[in-house]
Amino acid sequence: MSVILRVHDLAVSYGHIEAVKGLTFHLDSGEITALVGANGAGKSTTLLALSGLLKPGRGRIEFEGEDITHLPPHQRVARGLVQVAEGRAILTTLTVAENLQLGAYTRTDKARISASLEEVYHLFPRLKDRAGQFAGNLSGGEQQMLAIGRALMAKPRLLLLDEPSMGLAPLMVQEIFRTLVQINQGGLSVMLVEQNVKQALKIARHGYVIETGHIVLTDSGDNLLRNPKVLEAYLGT
Ligand SMILES: Nc1ncnc2c1ncn2[C@@H]1O[C@H](COP(=O)(O)OP(=O)(O)O)[C@@H](O)[C@H]1O
Ligand SMILES: [Mg+2]
Repeated sequence: MSVILRVHDLAVSYGHIEAVKGLTFHLDSGEITALVGANGAGKSTTLLALSGLLKPGRGRIEFEGEDITHLPPHQRVARGLVQVAEGRAILTTLTVAENLQLGAYTRTDKARISASLEEVYHLFPRLKDRAGQFAGNLSGGEQQMLAIGRALMAKPRLLLLDEPSMGLAPLMVQEIFRTLVQINQGGLSVMLVEQNVKQALKIARHGYVIETGHIVLTDSGDNLLRNPKVLEAYLGT
């Protein structure tokens, strides 16, 4: 199996405070990999470093065999390393269709951009129904769909998601996670960062558990779901 992303000894600080303390992990190509942990563990910080929005203090990030540690964010997006923003970050005064178009900002081939738009509408028919509406009028779950759709418009090879289940009702969480499985079955690699440990590990082939800036456990999603330490610390049993 090939590796799409390889991270070696990644450390990230805010001022003098080291939030991520030397992570080494990898993501297999074509799989869903979960990074799970409690609030404040360092999950978002890790993703921001992968996206290039935070500069690591040390370490190395390799994407598809190339060192991207020092590449600016837009060049990572152009290579297919695309993050769905936490808290949606959609533009509420633009329409759904306009938000989706913005996701294609690194691309130029109009025909292929239209094909991607059709794929997104196929995946999320609700977005097609609401294409002309202001994004601000969507429900929380629909806004999350829009955020994912917008990331898909960049033609990712690896999709990074920061807590897509946050603030959503259980049924909507199920729907979003079902869609992630569907997206992954289409061949896209997915890195899923979640505090919703159970749901994330259910759909992940492989998982990493992060605590206070360190990876403390790694195994298949199935094994982690049965691991007594995970059960006790994150699943309340
Ligand atoms: N902008 C920031 N400035 C200072 N400290 C931060 C900032 N963002 C996060 N932190 C701290 O870094 C640690 C990791 O945070 P974060 O990566 O957001 O965790 P998670 O996403 O797992 O909840 C926490 O202790 C948090 O308080
Ligand atoms: Mg976070």
